[in-house]
Amino acid sequence: MNNHCTLLRTRIDLDAIAHNTRLIAERLSPGTRLMAVVKADGYHHGALAVAATALNHGADALGVATIPEALELRGAGIDAPLLAWLWAAQDDDGVEGALAARVALGIPSVDHARAVIAAASRLQEESQDGSHPAARVFIKVETGMHRSGVDPERWAEVMDLLRDAPNVEVLGLFSHLSCADDPDHPANDAQAEQFARAIAYGRERGLALPINHLCNSPGTLTRPDLHHDMVRVGVALYGGEPIPAREHGLRPAMSWLATVALVKPVAPGEATSYGLTWTAERPGWLAVLPVGYADGLPRAAQGVLEVAIGGRRYPQVGRVCMDQILVDLGENPAGVAPGDEACIFGTEPGAMSASELAEALHTINYEVMCRPTGRTVRTFVAPEAAGLSAARHESEA
Ligand SMILES: Cc1ncc(COP(=O)(O)O)c(C=O)c1O
Repeated sequence: MNNHCTLLRTRIDLDAIAHNTRLIAERLSPGTRLMAVVKADGYHHGALAVAATALNHGADALGVATIPEALELRGAGIDAPLLAWLWAAQDDDGVEGALAARVALGIPSVDHARAVIAAASRLQEESQDGSHPAARVFIKVETGMHRSGVDPERWAEVMDLLRDAPNVEVLGLFSHLSCADDPDHPANDAQAEQFARAIAYGRERGLALPINHLCNSPGTLTRPDLHHDMVRVGVALYGGEPIPAREHGLRPAMSWLATVALVKPVAPGEATSYGLTWTAERPGWLAVLPVGYADGLPRAAQGVLEVAIGGRRYPQVGRVCMDQILVDLGENPAGVAPGDEACIFGTEPGAMSASELAEALHTINYEVMCRPTGRTVRTFVAPEAAGLSAARHESEA
């Protein structure tokens, strides 16, 4: 797509991702490895560019949710250790594809263990010389989140099945903290203790379990005692503070930008947008921005969003439409004009941060980062941080 006609874009600063990766890597306990979580297209920052940047600046491995996400990275030439943890045990082709591409799989149930064992044996039989590389797995153990993980009463069954399977290598255990963004929540210690019990139990049953991991971003930043052999860091990599009101020196990487499409006068008593929910009280100017709920801006942003143009903030007014919003420029003292750049959230002077907008929307910065979609086009700053060529700077968000 031609960037000159792009009215709506995210600008992803790969230097910020490089900075955040280094900052996190420096905080890790000795011997702890860093898995960069690049699921959901790198939290909408572009999985490939983020993966390449993180690997260039201190990450040791990558984590994604689904097998297609993992295969896309492999298809783009990313060779690093890679884990996918969300897949269906019935998806024989997917499992074989993942194992053939040396993607490690998370095992959250007995059925998943059986599926990997069966796929590993098929691949072994099909290989020319019977020496297909071992299927690598991490067992996801239930420690208290009750989302996805092998329940303690099935630990023995899953561990023994995988231990005894030919051509399967159990790299370690993992689990996920449910309340790490609330460092004082008692569930953190309870889950940590259960995780330690699972590791001890697995080793008693003869598994070496060299690489175990529990922490996400908030756990990594606040609980060095729980770093184990690896941490799985997502939001902090993108510069999102995982714990509201804490400050760790992270640099947000994403700005969501729209070109002002139109500036028009509005007279006192004139109302705007669907439902005519906002009425001008004095003569002024409205700017039309080409972003709406089809692009991921929630209708609930009405009345809480303030966009920055030229370093000043202006309130969004009236209903959020499918494709456009209106911004009250008042008397337009700064002379905002069509073609100017407006920042919906991000790092431009005066702009709301993703965290600030999240608070206003009663949500979390994770969700705000994942909002830009639809007609948004992604552009990268500092592609050299990822080792990307100029030709690959831009992609559909
Ligand atoms: C299993 C797992 N590990 C790690 C992460 C990364 O979490 P965060 O973005 O809080 O670092 C996620 C994301 O939700 C996840 O699902």
